[in-house]
Amino acid sequence: MKTSKPAAYDLVSRFNHWIVAFAMIGMLAFGIYIDDFVPRGPQAGALLQTHKALGVLVLAYGLWRVGWRLARGFLDSAARMPAWQEILSKITHWVLIAGIILMPLSGMTTSLFGGHDINIFGLFTIPGFTENKTVSDLAGDAHGTIANILIAFIVLHIAGALKHHVIDRDTTLVRMTTGRTER
Ligand code: HEM
Ligand code: HEM
Repeated sequence: MKTSKPAAYDLVSRFNHWIVAFAMIGMLAFGIYIDDFVPRGPQAGALLQTHKALGVLVLAYGLWRVGWRLARGFLDSAARMPAWQEILSKITHWVLIAGIILMPLSGMTTSLFGGHDINIFGLFTIPGFTENKTVSDLAGDAHGTIANILIAFIVLHIAGALKHHVIDRDTTLVRMTTGRTER
């Protein structure tokens, strides 16, 4: 039985959600920009170094963010919904959680098995492994495919949040922004 007052997101959960949400959207846009809009060459190479370094930082913060959620568990939905929407929302949240970890991990695998070091803004370096082109290429394909899957689910996720806020006028979005559980 669902209570009439849905559980609230604590400040840490809200902070973590928005930091990582914008970091992931930014990294997806950055990756696509480098891949599709910058001709291969030194400029693309320099941008890719920044992409890789930022991506490792996103992984570090993402592990904490995902760990916090898994340790606390997901909240019950803020609104009463048909079963298919409940299921879709759960699948979406799990895909997004997985994407936060798998995107940087697949990127690192591409790079490290390509024999390339990952230099984190001159602070420290993760040394590349002995080159294994098969693993590197597979991970590179996974990096691109997971990105596309993630983008589709992020679009769905945002559409869902807006539908709850504008059409259903429930507390789904505000409990993730201001933290209020009433409108
Ligand atoms: C934080 C999450 C990350 C996101 C959302 C992200 C996203 C992307 C996207 C969308 C592309 C274009 C891919 C394509 O269309 O094929 C890309 C390319 C690339 N990313 Fe990332 N990336 C992330 C982290 C990393 C990390 C940590 C590394 C390595 C340390 C990395 C290495 C690369 C490389 C080498 C490419 C070039 C093309 C390829 O082989 O796929 N990325 N990234
Ligand atoms: C502008 C973009 C976004 C909006 C408006 C938004 C909105 C929301 C809202 C309203 C919730 C609460 C849902 C509920 O309580 O049932 C939520 C939860 C969640 N969102 Fe987003 N979101 C955005 C982007 C993202 C991105 C890019 C990711 C990850 C890649 C993400 C991952 C999650 C996850 C995993 C949850 C489940 C609860 C948690 O662990 O934080 N969101 N989002």
